[in-house]
Amino acid sequence: MSKNILVTGGAGYVGAELVPKLLNEGHKVTVLDTFWYSDESLFKSSENLKLIKGDIRDKEIITSSLVDITDVFHLACISNDPSFDLDPELGKSINYDCFEYIVSEAKRMGVSRFIYASSSSVYGVKETPNVTEDLSLEPLTDYSKYKALCETILNKYKSDNFTVVSVRPATVCGPSRRQRLDVVVNILTNHAINNGKIKIFGGEQKRPNIHIEDMCQAYIQLLNAEASIINGEIFNAGGENLPVMKIAQLVSEVTGVKTLDILPTDDIRSYHISSEKIFNAIGFKAQKSVKDAIVDLKSSFDNNLLKDSLSDPKYFNVKFVKDSLL
Ligand SMILES: NC(=O)c1ccc[n+]([C@@H]2O[C@H](COP(=O)([O-])OP(=O)(O)OC[C@H]3O[C@@H](n4cnc5c(N)ncnc54)[C@H](O)[C@@H]3O)[C@@H](O)[C@H]2O)c1
Repeated sequence: MSKNILVTGGAGYVGAELVPKLLNEGHKVTVLDTFWYSDESLFKSSENLKLIKGDIRDKEIITSSLVDITDVFHLACISNDPSFDLDPELGKSINYDCFEYIVSEAKRMGVSRFIYASSSSVYGVKETPNVTEDLSLEPLTDYSKYKALCETILNKYKSDNFTVVSVRPATVCGPSRRQRLDVVVNILTNHAINNGKIKIFGGEQKRPNIHIEDMCQAYIQLLNAEASIINGEIFNAGGENLPVMKIAQLVSEVTGVKTLDILPTDDIRSYHISSEKIFNAIGFKAQKSVKDAIVDLKSSFDNNLLKDSLSDPKYFNVKFVKDSLL
């Protein structure tokens, strides 16, 4: 059945790939985004696609964006720790302060499903080898703390007519129409191809990753899942959990770059998220590997799609926020 979907942050790294997939599935899509990292030419125009350049903190824009909407993906965010920390007040205003209004207004205006992009960083560092959704949250940063607090707010609004679900994604990797090159697999691949060396901080830490196509597929399955199975639930969504050194070796294999620079790091966070719950509930299982993401990204570089990939701030959220928003 065709839905009328609002994607906040739809012009971001994940949203820019999710939106065309939703359109392909026959849905109508409204993107509400400030378009920080790209402009409206990101998308092929379509009568089923509406683009709203606006800020999720603007209550009037939220209300007008929600007219006739059936489902919401809420992705808009200052989306990593370092860019959040540059201006914690700005980060809080976008990632937390406006959240309850968006949820309550969505419910009031008859939206039936609200899917929230949280983060697997809400767990902090866990000793246990398999991090499942029922474990306590020990967020180490404000970015993660507010992600966790939003999950709680969202669940307050759960009802039979308003299905709510939070997703805790692993770090996303691979190519997108709006490329991020500040996430681990993409950083290592960019440096190997364009700098001739692979720089690793630490190496033993395990980091969960998910290919961007699998990420979009998980969201689509949540959109289509029976409400009673997912309402009020929280799901991890990850693909492979590999030590950073193993990712570097895969980058070396795919790119042919042999120079590995190993540097010490204070960031020894190491964790492995379990994605069994989402598989058992809705049958989602990641299909693509970290190596696939490296191969796919290499092809974007080979096709010259990522110009100035070591210097253009649009690829690096922290540089963009620092240069353009502060
Ligand atoms: N990419 C990952 O590895 C990852 C991992 C876990 C969770 N997530 C979450 O998934 C979501 C999407 O991540 P992403 O990688 O696509 O991030 P992104 O930074 O590429 O996209 C965020 C989008 O939100 C928009 N935006 C920011 N503030 C806004 C505002 N005030 N009003 C309207 N639009 C605004 C930006 O312009 C951007 O297009 C985020 O909520 C992020 O926290 C991402």
